[in-house]
Amino acid sequence: MPTRRPDAADAQLSAQYEAYPYPVRDPREEAKRLVVGSPSHLREIDHWIFAARRPAARPLRALIAGGGTGDAAIMLAQHLAWAGREGEVVWLDRSAAARRIAEARAAARGLGNLRFVEGSLLELPELGLGAFDYIDCCGVLHHLPDPAAGLAALAGALAPGGGIGLMLYAPHGRTGVYMLQDALRLLAPAAEPPSARVEIARRLWRQAPETAWLRRNPWLTDHLTGGDAGLYDLLLNPRDVAFTVPALHALIEGAGLRLVTLVEPLRYDPDMLLTDPRLRARTAALDPIQRAALAEAVAGNMGIHIAYCARAADPPLAAPPWEDPEAVPVLREIDGPALARSLPADGALPIGWDGLRVAVPLPRLAAAILARVDGRRSIGAIGDALAATAGVSREAFARDFAALARQMERLNRMLLAAPQAG
Ligand SMILES: C[S@@+](CC[C@H](N)C(=O)[O-])C[C@H]1O[C@@H](n2cnc3c(N)ncnc32)[C@H](O)[C@@H]1O
Repeated sequence: MPTRRPDAADAQLSAQYEAYPYPVRDPREEAKRLVVGSPSHLREIDHWIFAARRPAARPLRALIAGGGTGDAAIMLAQHLAWAGREGEVVWLDRSAAARRIAEARAAARGLGNLRFVEGSLLELPELGLGAFDYIDCCGVLHHLPDPAAGLAALAGALAPGGGIGLMLYAPHGRTGVYMLQDALRLLAPAAEPPSARVEIARRLWRQAPETAWLRRNPWLTDHLTGGDAGLYDLLLNPRDVAFTVPALHALIEGAGLRLVTLVEPLRYDPDMLLTDPRLRARTAALDPIQRAALAEAVAGNMGIHIAYCARAADPPLAAPPWEDPEAVPVLREIDGPALARSLPADGALPIGWDGLRVAVPLPRLAAAILARVDGRRSIGAIGDALAATAGVSREAFARDFAALARQMERLNRMLLAAPQAG
């Protein structure tokens, strides 16, 4: 595969993240909150990468490639530490300025399971960091001279059985960005000092007419709330390329990887949007990537894609064992009883994604089950509790649990924990 060498835009990119490490973070904030998200939430890695079959006691080696000011590295290292799990999280980035912030965040939390390496992900073989069970690459590949070469470098650093969590830009939800980037290439050329370019960008934003599409796109806020680093990243970045679902899929397959899931899976289901039976008859004839591409094109609001991938050379893992009574369901950043209390009477869970509102139908026993999901009880124990306290039959529980699990998994909200024994 021909590899595009670092070019002038790549040198500008490097300078950008020295001047404006991204995202803006203050290490003092670590005392107040943990920044969490996808990919690389430990619960997602356990579920989507390892199908809830890799024992929690097995040490996890993770690489955060292009780790920036540390969001994913800090989240994963903290999740491992809180769970008392063995592992090492390696932060890798070219930016010394970002490293200083990420290191200060780790120090503020007293995390001892993080290692910081300054360098390019394109030089992974020379860096001699060894193989990784999991690699995060969030918001990086779309800035590289050759995203395919970047992903191939990451795939080459995966241990057998390992997986990758990616975030790449998607075009439709970024409507307005590329027009203003074009304008700023004319008004604030890359040769000018970064601070001067920021000033011009702010002036342009104040003057941009109401027809400028970014004004009509309320789902992008980096230029409004992300400080100079956010503004620069969105509007002055020397290179960013957005990927539709088919382009992303081709990138993944080209690197010898297999797409496990897009997150949230339900968002990529066109049937969630299209209920007309004549349309449904046609969506049924599409393959999974075409279906996801259709959902992307119809919704029109996706600004990023999050994808979990496995090595194509590895045998595909069985699906997470939702039918195993010993498996333990876990909720992501939701309190089970609180969610149970808040469910509407019609049993449909309201969800919002960047302005798109959908109601996700849940089964009759959803509230009773969710109230008992505490990250410790197994599926079998929840069924026992419902039989004992509410007289719910095993058949009714099995049916409704399966229906609830299917919907909540597709929302990336209820997943299965890594097995404790193994
Ligand atoms: C938009 S920031 C994303 C930071 C972080 N992953 C996040 O999502 O918050 C992109 C990061 O990629 C880093 N980067 C760009 N090219 C790189 C390369 N070839 N090797 C390592 N890091 C790189 C930049 O220095 C920057 O910190």
